[in-house]
Amino acid sequence: MSRYDLIQHVRGESYFVDDFISPEGTLYASIFFSPKAHGKIKSLNIDEAKISNGIKAIFTSADIPGENQIGGIIPDEELLVNDEVNYIGQPIAIVVAETPLLAKQARDKIKIDISELPVITDPRESFKKGNLIIPPQIFSLGDVDNAWKNCDLIVSGKAETSGQEHLYLETQSALAFPTEGGGIKIYSSTQGPTVVQRTVAKVLGISMNKVEVDTLRLGGGFGGKEDQANAWAAMAALASFKLKKPVKLVLSRQEDIKLTGKRHPYSSDYKIGLDKNGKIIAYEVAFYQNAGASADLSPAILDRTLFHSTNSYYIPNVKATGYCCKTNLPPNTAFRGFGGPQAMFVIETAIYKAAEKMGIDPLIIQEKNLLNEGDEFPYGQKIKNSNLRRCWNELDEKYHLARIKNSIEDYNKANKFLKKGIAVMPVCFGISFTNTFMNQASALVHIYSDGSIGITTAAIEMGQGINEKLRKVAANIFSIDINKIKIEASNTTRIANASPTAASSSADLNGKALEIACHSLRDRLTSSIRQDLKIENNIAVHIKDEIVYIIDKPTKLKWEDIIKSAFMKRVNLSSQSQYATPEISFNKKISKGYPFAYYSMGTSIIEITLDCLRGIYKIDSVKVVHDFGKTLDKIIDKGQAEGAIVQGLGWMTIEDIVYNDQGKLLTDSLSTYKIPDINFSPDNIDINFLENSVNPMGIFNSKAIGEPPLIYGIGVYFALMNAMKAFRPKKIFNISAPLTPEKILLSLYSNYTDHLTSING
Ligand code: MTE
Ligand code: HPA
Ligand code: MOS
Repeated sequence: MSRYDLIQHVRGESYFVDDFISPEGTLYASIFFSPKAHGKIKSLNIDEAKISNGIKAIFTSADIPGENQIGGIIPDEELLVNDEVNYIGQPIAIVVAETPLLAKQARDKIKIDISELPVITDPRESFKKGNLIIPPQIFSLGDVDNAWKNCDLIVSGKAETSGQEHLYLETQSALAFPTEGGGIKIYSSTQGPTVVQRTVAKVLGISMNKVEVDTLRLGGGFGGKEDQANAWAAMAALASFKLKKPVKLVLSRQEDIKLTGKRHPYSSDYKIGLDKNGKIIAYEVAFYQNAGASADLSPAILDRTLFHSTNSYYIPNVKATGYCCKTNLPPNTAFRGFGGPQAMFVIETAIYKAAEKMGIDPLIIQEKNLLNEGDEFPYGQKIKNSNLRRCWNELDEKYHLARIKNSIEDYNKANKFLKKGIAVMPVCFGISFTNTFMNQASALVHIYSDGSIGITTAAIEMGQGINEKLRKVAANIFSIDINKIKIEASNTTRIANASPTAASSSADLNGKALEIACHSLRDRLTSSIRQDLKIENNIAVHIKDEIVYIIDKPTKLKWEDIIKSAFMKRVNLSSQSQYATPEISFNKKISKGYPFAYYSMGTSIIEITLDCLRGIYKIDSVKVVHDFGKTLDKIIDKGQAEGAIVQGLGWMTIEDIVYNDQGKLLTDSLSTYKIPDINFSPDNIDINFLENSVNPMGIFNSKAIGEPPLIYGIGVYFALMNAMKAFRPKKIFNISAPLTPEKILLSLYSNYTDHLTSING
């Protein structure tokens, strides 16, 4: 792999927030949080904590100089609870001491008395009580109510997906220190330095230009630091601001799992109507999103759920309703796919159940309803330049679906307790922030007088390889050695008003901004060369491999010479640029528009073997044909696809978030919460790049890749259902994701005597 920071990574030399050499006198913060999911604070006793060894200060909501408010979309989230707690883990006080351990010891001496109120953890219960964070959201196309009568088969049911812990390697962290004139500087592990800046300014009651946020890289974000880095940065900043000392706050793994929100669990009702050939005529769905105790990004995530309610299919009559339900859990947040995967799971369940009723393979319905060029989504956008069918067909040609199915049938006949299962999973994911205004980015490029280059954008490297992609863009435009190019930390004083690194859009948005800046620098350099060599405007001059060419003849002039000469002539060797995605728009009032620049798409086959005696299973393979456009970096893109797929497989199978009815997280460590490891991962993940795909809306004709492949992982759920069905053909399994081995085993053997009677007569 070509990524410049890999050697540093494996040698442990890369800096993450906790690695920065702390300024002298740095103090450490620990957070006292609510032990109850709902109630009023009757008393908070800090007497013992106040005299604890090494203690420097304890801050509560009363100490906040600005607003005690960090809600980004809706102002419904206090930084520190003042009166009413709404989930276990909600921050109440910041304890600052000389060392991290002393801070924790002092924190543990705080006593709280809470008069408890009823706890709601279930979104449907919250809906019944009217606890919605925003009004119901509706997307519709055609006329569902009138379409049912034209259907030969109508199937309805419930589909449920659970949460997912981000488990980024670097936990939430921030290091803040005071700057002169009452300002503050923060090193934050965030996907969105601008959002941290805005939040801190609000909490401290100072203007944004007094807050500097710097982000070098993240040890993973996966959406968990799009919004939820704000709170920890604001707490470190508050303590630092008050004490006029550097303050570091790094959550322990267990604190991070307990205190932060996760992927939203959804509970949904669907109704699907088809004709006798399997053509889908109508689809109605209601999504109950478990938002947790405050809005966070839930409304935006619910939007994307609605955008993706029909996944890769054209359905002429659709009504999709989303409910953003407030519960007494930590606020759930962005997670790779941003509500899209939850929606796609429901339509796939509906198709699976319809196929089961019709006695056909779900892939017949999937294929028959796959989007065709020009088909309209429920929000009005029509699909253009679609390669969806090409991906499907190439996958089939390469792996022969019918042949795989036959060999699985043979295997299942020959084996009593081992059953194989298969599913096909297509994906079509819209690329752009669904909030149109967020689709903008800027870049700042400096060419230093020695010919080396420094680039700043708001794109945050979190393992997805964005820095290498940006280096490639600049190296390609200047035609110079990539090692001359360095990507600087993101910093709010160099890049202002930036969107977070999210929505898989950072390469497109920041890459296109960078392209503009590099082009203007290249133009300045070519004029400077013309001046030096006294060449007319109509004669072509260009730089190739660091050498100046006139027409097609190489000269003696090298990159370093051009830069030196331009500098001496006082040519501006810095450039700042902005890019805003053209054409897109969305009218929220009517839920119609053209929100996406383009779509990321492809199809996958997932095969598994299930041990029906023990409920355990092996994922044999995931085979994919995906449209990457013209890839910027094949190895990075392949790595993104593989990583996303394994994360999707984990969500559907072994990652099981369990809260009890009192809102206490029971799976708060890696002994109880299982994520995929190398043994769990499929032996084979075959990623095939669709050939001859170009995408002018992407940087250098590439396509966004960060999130969409996660959705292929959903296929494992249906492959497992397929194998369960092979073991008990007559049983209708009504279960939910994740399909943990325990859950599978219990379902396989529920009413097992009926099964024995049916096979033994
Ligand atoms: N890959 C790694 N290694 N680590 C991450 O945290 N985040 C994912 C994806 N891939 C992530 C990742 C998410 S949620 C998004 S939105 C995209 O990367 C963001 O980066 P991009 O816009 O450069 O694709
Ligand atoms: N994706 C990710 N993050 C976002 C989006 C989106 O579509 N909209 C707002 N924040
Ligand atoms: Mo990704 S969920 O858009 O950070």
